Amino acid sequence: MTAGKSRPRLSITIMVEDFFISYIGNTMLNKIGKIKQSAINDIQTIRSLSDLDNYRIKYLARKGLVADLFDELRNVSAEERPHIGKIANELRNQVQSLFDEKKQNLESNVKHEQKRLDLTLPGRLSWVGTQHPLTQTLDEIKRIFFRMGFGIATGPEIEDDYHNFEALNFPPDHPARDMQDTFFISDKVLLRTHTSPVQIRIMENQPPPVRVIIPGRVYRNEAVSARSYCLFHQVEGLYIDEGVTFSELKGTLVAFAKEFYGSDIKYRFRPSYFPFTEPSAEMDITCFLCKGKGCRMCKQTGWLEILGCGMVDPNVYKFVGYDPEKYSGYAFGMGIERITLLRYSIDDIRILFENDVRFLKQF
Ligand code: PHE
Repeated sequence: MTAGKSRPRLSITIMVEDFFISYIGNTMLNKIGKIKQSAINDIQTIRSLSDLDNYRIKYLARKGLVADLFDELRNVSAEERPHIGKIANELRNQVQSLFDEKKQNLESNVKHEQKRLDLTLPGRLSWVGTQHPLTQTLDEIKRIFFRMGFGIATGPEIEDDYHNFEALNFPPDHPARDMQDTFFISDKVLLRTHTSPVQIRIMENQPPPVRVIIPGRVYRNEAVSARSYCLFHQVEGLYIDEGVTFSELKGTLVAFAKEFYGSDIKYRFRPSYFPFTEPSAEMDITCFLCKGKGCRMCKQTGWLEILGCGMVDPNVYKFVGYDPEKYSGYAFGMGIERITLLRYSIDDIRILFENDVRFLKQF
């Protein structure tokens, strides 16, 4: 039907849904509906502020579709104008708020974009973690003994009196037990004071030959200070076979010390006492800070004690059922904290347990 344009003033009434409206009024309503639909469709395709400006020109500008509509409103009869005018107003508000909302979105995206791409900001350092100095020391000790053919073993930190003392030849109520201030959990259960009880557990479970190192935590009820802490780490060594001699013990430990501390160190073995070794010794090396001249670290002696050792006492073999006539062997034990403190010239053992990243990231 072409009548709309050529005869705009023709007043016919048609029924739309349940009310009557003039032909012109109906045309206006259709137009409003179309503009509304296209405004909604268009807004979804807009990706930039310049797209949005075109949108504004198309719909909201002085010569835009919405303004046209209000011009045409003049053609609508006086009775219908308030009703259609109201619908036209609603359209204008809707298009305006579609526009406003889009504008806000795009502008905040732009802000984000600018933030994301601020090339003047300093780069963020990615921080790679470091190994704890105790772990580093332990790893190096392990590496050296693995190369010499030692295996590795571990045992429980909660021990019984039998493994920690009795089977290691500490007689009941013998003052030797006082050498190690023990944390007791109950009468016969305790936190192990050294890694030596694992020697017993291994020998209980396998026949000779035995050649292992045993790293682990140990606990002692001592006053906490810069020099001692209630827990620390040891590495135990145990080698048992037919015909093992004291010179093998020395050879192995000297090879270890030269590898670990440097081939130019001097060393000495001093006689000592442990209930589970006979003979027993402690090994010293020349102080690597003053090279033996005497300093604060070695308490002016020129020597640093690095471990305890000895030939496994035949009494121990009786507890584990090894034949002392057939087998012999040696054991040694060293403290990891002590070695680590000396090595890195750290003057307070407590700092190794505080997990302060300012300290740890130096390693
Ligand atoms: N267990 C002893 C200590 O803690 C060290 C040691 C181990 C000595 C093995 C001799 C043999 O002091």
